[in-house]
Amino acid sequence: MERLAERRIAVCVGPGGVGKTTVAAAVGLARAQAGARVLVCTIDPARRLANALGLQSLGNVETRVPDHAFREAGLQPGGQLFAMMLDVKRTWDDLVARHAPDRARRERIYRNRLYQQLSSALAGSQEFMAMEKLYELTTERDYDLVVLDTPPTAHALDFLDAPERILDFLGNDTARALLSPALHAGRAGLKLFQLGGAYAAKTLARFTGADVLKDLADFLAGFQGMYEGFERRAAAVRSLLSTPGVGFVLVASASPLAVDEALGFHERLHAESMPVAGAVANRITPSLWPEGESAPGEEALRAALGAGGDLAARLARTLAEHQLQARADAVQVARLFEAVGGAGVAIPRLRADVHDLRGLSQLAERL
Ligand SMILES: Nc1ncnc2c1ncn2[C@@H]1O[C@H](COP(=O)(O)OP(=O)(O)OP(=O)(O)O)[C@@H](O)[C@H]1O
Ligand SMILES: [Mg+2]
Repeated sequence: MERLAERRIAVCVGPGGVGKTTVAAAVGLARAQAGARVLVCTIDPARRLANALGLQSLGNVETRVPDHAFREAGLQPGGQLFAMMLDVKRTWDDLVARHAPDRARRERIYRNRLYQQLSSALAGSQEFMAMEKLYELTTERDYDLVVLDTPPTAHALDFLDAPERILDFLGNDTARALLSPALHAGRAGLKLFQLGGAYAAKTLARFTGADVLKDLADFLAGFQGMYEGFERRAAAVRSLLSTPGVGFVLVASASPLAVDEALGFHERLHAESMPVAGAVANRITPSLWPEGESAPGEEALRAALGAGGDLAARLARTLAEHQLQARADAVQVARLFEAVGGAGVAIPRLRADVHDLRGLSQLAERL
């Protein structure tokens, strides 16, 4: 993907399960092998992939993939490849520490039970923190390229919308005021409808568990006055994402739904002037014969193999089905690539999962 060559930030986005994490790691590997100093920030990588990158645990720790790991996989180290797993909770903690007016406030937030479950309880939290971390990694470190993987959301667009939704929630003074009696009431004597149906439903639905009002009131009170700082930071992240050094990589499978979603994302990025570097159609079924030619039929196979009827018939059917799938995939891949002006790479379904440097390098070669 040539259009990635000059970027300083690559963000892999796309529907769930299509290969974002794998492609992010492969993009990083490709650039590192070309001599660059690269960091891949992964989110929830499969354990074996994490191991292959030398990552043992969460913690926002940037870990260098050692040269001998490259050599053992039959690769030249070239540049430097670093990897890390995003630690959502710790990123929140850092963010709170940065914005809290004093220690007491910081500790109050840290102690809040909702806050402690924030990474899992607040929808969009991972996305928000991924952006936050990206900002820090690109402004405070000196990598040639930072590759960001994005969380396994049901909808790719959540990635762009999450920060705003969370800020809406943290900055909602009406909710804060309405909930404040809950802080003092023994039992929260609150009528939820006072909150305004939509806000209450939207907000409370984000949290799991029943007796949350008091925690919620305390939580919102804790964040009071910090909103502006958060908002400024989020605005900085957004403007960073629309600089030319950024390249979004749309990752999709060849399923029509996945491509629809990737195209929706592409439109949105375009509307927000966020630069797209290209698309990756992953795990596609490659065509075994050129356009116009069809798979050999039963008769031809029988003659070629000199084999009995049953084998030739089964083989003919398998090949025909494969070819049908390949044609269907090609149609979807073409839709995807057209949207990005041809800047697309198709990666076939490999025989095994991609969980080591050798597997990644097979992808990297195609990028
Ligand atoms: N080209 C490929 N061939 C074979 N297996 C692949 C290929 N690309 C990815 N995989 C495998 O598919 C699985 C899902 O990939 P991955 O975890 O990268 O997807 P993801 O988009 O990050 O998923 P999530 O949305 O859950 O984060 C992994 O087991 C990975 O090894
Ligand atoms: Mg993933």
